[in-house]
Amino acid sequence: MRNRKEVLLEKLERLKAQRNALIIAHNYQVPEVLDVADYVGDSFELSQKAADLPGKDVIVFCGVLFMAEVASILSPEKTVLLPDYTAGCSLADMITGDELRAWKEQYPAAAVVSYVNSSAEVKALSDVCVTSANAVAVVDALPQEEVLFVPDRNLAHFVACNTEKHIIPWDGYCESHDCVKPESVAAARRAYPDAVIMVHPECTPGVVSAADQVCSTGGMLRFARETEHREIVVGTEIGMLYRLRKENPEKSFYALSGDMLCPTMKLMNLEKIVDCLESMQPQVSVPENIAVPARKALERMLATVS
Ligand code: 13P
Repeated sequence: MRNRKEVLLEKLERLKAQRNALIIAHNYQVPEVLDVADYVGDSFELSQKAADLPGKDVIVFCGVLFMAEVASILSPEKTVLLPDYTAGCSLADMITGDELRAWKEQYPAAAVVSYVNSSAEVKALSDVCVTSANAVAVVDALPQEEVLFVPDRNLAHFVACNTEKHIIPWDGYCESHDCVKPESVAAARRAYPDAVIMVHPECTPGVVSAADQVCSTGGMLRFARETEHREIVVGTEIGMLYRLRKENPEKSFYALSGDMLCPTMKLMNLEKIVDCLESMQPQVSVPENIAVPARKALERMLATVS
């Protein structure tokens, strides 16, 4: 008798071929999803991939809604499926289009920079998008000196510390990163005195300044591969540990805090991937009047740093 996983995997392969589909997953996804994904990456790598997928008709996006929206905006001719439509991002929900419109009116000379963790409507109102992998470089390349940065205040602070531009932050935050205190960094240093500590720039300024490395999830994978350190403390969503450990079996990785858990990133599983390929639902699409200006903001990011 074949077990549940074997049955699902066989069904998945058949449906993938039938639909001419590709599975894309963010680094925070659960192991059974990461193991079947054709491509895994950070937000920037996934947007690059979504923009350049010749020969495929369907993208199954295992991440959260704004990521699937980015895939649909950059590849509008493809069908984008999000296996669980309730997979939102509370950070992205911290600013609405109307709030951004009103804020922009107060700063007519400022550039508007939206972190990719934002709604399609907010991207459409922005001059350019950024991810944590490229925020400083994209902001540096802007002609304006004043920058409205939405929605993450912690990434905005990190950018402000690394650019000459005047950054005006929106007061949003990621619950899974903002919850960690600098005391956790001090405790990790005591517990693992030989370890290097890397954190995501969505962590608070106190945590960022106490850490040794600040990088996107893709940057963490590169750093872990290249560093001479054998022990690494990881200050980002705990799903990240799976890929770090799998790709670096000779090194030890420790979570900075067990509280760094994104509940909506954990909503995808094999059943839901198979179901969505069978029913071709739920689909993510962005209306043309929003997709066109949002695509401009995303393509400007890709053109600046690719
Ligand atoms: P990365 O772009 O570093 O993968 O970050 C994604 C994210 O949403 C962090 O919470």
